[in-house]
Amino acid sequence: MSELIRFSVAMPENLLVQFDSLVARRGLAKNRSEVIRDLVREALVDEEWDDPSQEIVGTLSIVFSHHAADLQGKLDQVQHAHHDKIISAMHVHLDAHNCLEVIVLRGKSEVVRGIADAILGVKGVKHGRLTATTTGLYL
Ligand code: NI
Repeated sequence: MSELIRFSVAMPENLLVQFDSLVARRGLAKNRSEVIRDLVREALVDEEWDDPSQEIVGTLSIVFSHHAADLQGKLDQVQHAHHDKIISAMHVHLDAHNCLEVIVLRGKSEVVRGIADAILGVKGVKHGRLTATTTGLYL
């Protein structure tokens, strides 16, 4: 980590009260400075994702029925077509009927979003969410 630099922040009292409540919810390992750094990183990740040409990392979680006809085959087809952008995938048999897949993607923002949309668009996917993270250049 690079050298820490102190600066002061002014904010309305009611906002500070709410911020301190957030700091408390994040637990003993976090203080105001840590939480502000987390929020700044979050804003920077959001900015990366808004730039279609920016290299990003995303995690796509999907839940689907094990029984749906050829659904696994269709999901595999999309993933094989983009194997160079998929770093890793994990399959969990949640119960007798449902499967969870966690797919980690890396590439340009617009490409990663496109692959995620293609996977989420496969008929039979019950729930899914793409989570933004970063290659970590400024962490
Ligand atoms: Ni399964």
